[in-house]
This record gives sequence, structure tokens and C-alpha cells, in this order.
Amino acid sequence: PGYPAYEPITAYVGGKPVPLRLSESNGFRMTPEEVNELITSRTKAIIINSPHNPCGSVLREEDVKGIVEIAEDRNAFVISDEIYYPILFDGLKHYSPLSFAKKDNVILVDGFSKRYAMTGWRLGYAVVPSDLVEPMTKLLNNMTSCPNQFVQYAGIEALRGPQDSVKKMVKAYEERRNVVMEKLKEVEGITYLKPQGAFYVFVNVQKILSRAGMTSEQLVTRLIENYGVAVLHGSSMGAYGEGFIRISFANSIENLVEGISRLGRAFSDMLRQ
Ligand SMILES: Cc1ncc(COP(=O)(O)O)c(C=O)c1O
Repeated sequence: PGYPAYEPITAYVGGKPVPLRLSESNGFRMTPEEVNELITSRTKAIIINSPHNPCGSVLREEDVKGIVEIAEDRNAFVISDEIYYPILFDGLKHYSPLSFAKKDNVILVDGFSKRYAMTGWRLGYAVVPSDLVEPMTKLLNNMTSCPNQFVQYAGIEALRGPQDSVKKMVKAYEERRNVVMEKLKEVEGITYLKPQGAFYVFVNVQKILSRAGMTSEQLVTRLIENYGVAVLHGSSMGAYGEGFIRISFANSIENLVEGISRLGRAFSDMLRQ
């Protein structure tokens, strides 16, 4: 499972997206061993995303280092989507492949929507090897021209201004994460890991699905229509996401508590029908 744009963008530019199954047994981390199993001489780039959407997992220093080394050995790029990088819990640290790379093979992508809650303002940036600047500029110029001017000024203000709002937000997300963990204990038939970053919990609902004879997509439709709760089906995050739903805790504690108790009611109904 991963952010849904990666697969279609790869296919659009003529590549073959190769998904890696993240497993609960290693904390939904993408490990160098797993990358090694899938990499071939045709691999052009390895996409990593930490903290992770939808799993809330965070790569360790040795994971990032190991993946960078593999990419360097194989002459592949590492595309590192670090859009959630400050949203880390339990005192964890963020490791960027840029700090370990010995070759010019890392592309860092980031944006303003998560860190500064500027979602919808459509402003992002990338740090790329110098020979990619010209072709990327040409592509962007012809595709989008540029972000509008006042949003660019807002981005400058966000970067140059005091950063205490980011700390405040991360603290609020951690509190919400803790409330969500407490409330989910009351829900039957599910398993989940404690997210270490971003603002998502990826919940294993395989038991509910097999009891109800449904796919995760059918389940989320049932949840919104009959219980008024919006979650995302795991299969929207790639084929390996089937069997899961994603809860976003970018919402008020009050709504989260209400939403999870409705989930509890829904699953208890489904387990007994
Ligand atoms: C991992 C990841 N990357 C990139 C994005 C894109 O963010 P935006 O289009 O809001 O800048 C998102 C948004 O959900 C995301 O979760």
C-alpha cells in the first residue's frame, strides 16, 4: 500500500510500477531486504515515503541507509516523499536519504499541505540532482505553468515565519493518535499498529470482511451510508491494501471519538449478522 498517485504516474511515463507488500510484522516498514528482493536491472527508481500514508509507519535510519546503498549499487534513483517529515511521535527522528547519499541519485519531494495545513493550495517543491532541473522545469512549465503568485508568497511566509505552529500541530496529532488508540481497543474484530507518524491508522479488517463477505471498498460504502463514518478502503492504496481501511485522525477529538464508536457499532453488527 502507498499514496495512490505513485502507480498511475509511473505507468503514465511508461514505467512499470512494482508494489512492495508492507507487512504488519515489521511495523509496515519498507526494509532494504524487501527492496533487494524486488529490484532488477530495469529498476529506474525506488519510491519511499516516511512517515507513511496510509500506514503511519516510519523508516529507521538503517532502512533509509540500506535503501540508498541498494539504489547506488543499481544506478537507480531514490524518490523520497517526505511530505509528513515533521509529523513524528514518541520522540522519533526523521532520516532523509539526502543525508546518506554518496551519489547524485536522490530526489526529495515535499509540499506545504501537511506541515502548514495548506492542503488545497497546491504548492510543493522538489530537491533534485542538477541535471534534472532543466527537464523538470520544462515539464512543469508546460503542464501547470506555475503555482499562483499569492500562494508562493504564502509559502515564503510559512518557511520564514515562526515554526511553533508546526510543533503545536504535531502535539495535537499525537494527542489524537493516543485517543484513537484508546478508542480502537473497544472495537471488536480488528487489529492495528500504533502509528509513529503522519495522521493515519491502517486497520486490518480482514475478519470483518470475511464474516460479511465484502471487499474493503464495499465496507467503506456501508460505513458511510449506514453509519455516517468516512474512512478510506485499503484497496484505494494499491492491491496490497485490500483487507484494510485507513482512518485519518486529521479531525477533532470529539469527531474521532464519535466516529470510532460508530465503527465499533458497525463491526459488532456485522460480526453478529
Ligand atoms: C504521501 C503523500 N505524498 C504527497 C501527497 C500530496 O500532497 P498535496 O497534493 O496535498 O501537496 C500526499 C497527500 O495526501 C501524501 O499523502
